[in-house]
Amino acid sequence: MTKTALVTGAARGIGLATTRLLLEAGWRVAMIDRDAPELEAACAGLDGAQAFICDVSEPEAVEAMVAEVQAAFGSIDALVNNAGVADFGPIAETDFARWRRVMATNLDGVFLVSQACAPALQAAKGAIVNIASISGLRASTLRVAYGTSKAAVIQLTKQQAAELGEYGVRVNCVCPGPVRTKLAMAVHSQEIIDAYHDAIPLNRYGSEQEIAEVIVFLCSEKASYVTGQIIAADGGFESTGVGLPALRR
Ligand SMILES: NC(=O)c1ccc[n+]([C@@H]2O[C@H](COP(=O)([O-])OP(=O)(O)OC[C@H]3O[C@@H](n4cnc5c(N)ncnc54)[C@H](O)[C@@H]3O)[C@@H](O)[C@H]2O)c1
Repeated sequence: MTKTALVTGAARGIGLATTRLLLEAGWRVAMIDRDAPELEAACAGLDGAQAFICDVSEPEAVEAMVAEVQAAFGSIDALVNNAGVADFGPIAETDFARWRRVMATNLDGVFLVSQACAPALQAAKGAIVNIASISGLRASTLRVAYGTSKAAVIQLTKQQAAELGEYGVRVNCVCPGPVRTKLAMAVHSQEIIDAYHDAIPLNRYGSEQEIAEVIVFLCSEKASYVTGQIIAADGGFESTGVGLPALRR
């Protein structure tokens, strides 16, 4: 039977690339996003995909959306919690409203959609893939809210894996390195781009497709004995403590 994946933040960037790859692999995809015009444009012409407008930080909207997806597709076999916002700023300029805006999507959203999908995922013995970030693995300036939200997603992944394993549900996390999406380009100056190149052994940004490949693998039966894992798709950034440009040959 054709399997169904629910992908949040599917209107563009990593979520859209993941949707395309899942469709190529024969999945049906429920594309979720709060940006209605962009979601509808992205979904148009994608055979096997259906768009559902929803803000993942709103509990009632999430409940209603998951019910609609189940009514449309019957099952939910994989959930990709990808919707995220990047709002970077110094601690002194991070008031509670800014902190909440980041947490509402990046952490509450992952929790809410997972909770709403859990019964369907248990019935399907399905999989969750949460999207965190290298900013959740290594601390850095300007990320007091973003980095903390992503570190929390990493721990949430482990909690979910520990508890949902006995129902046959696998839960893993992908931590992307920098990718030239709208989200990243809004906060990455040329100087930041150059500095990332220096700190990444592969010496470049990743592509949406390269992140999506890891996500789709973790959703698939090929990863049937993999759960509770945090996988960085980051060109080697996380594993290398010393990336000094002066130490390059
Ligand atoms: N691009 C990078 O460099 C990078 C690096 C590490 C991690 N990530 C993570 O990857 C994920 C995808 O990022 P991207 O770069 O593709 O971003 P993007 O901005 O291109 O796409 C994110 C999508 O999520 C949607 N979205 C945001 N908040 C939402 C909400 N509350 N409800 C529903 N939809 C919402 C947006 O409308 C957008 O379509 C995010 O979780 C991000 O934090 C990205």
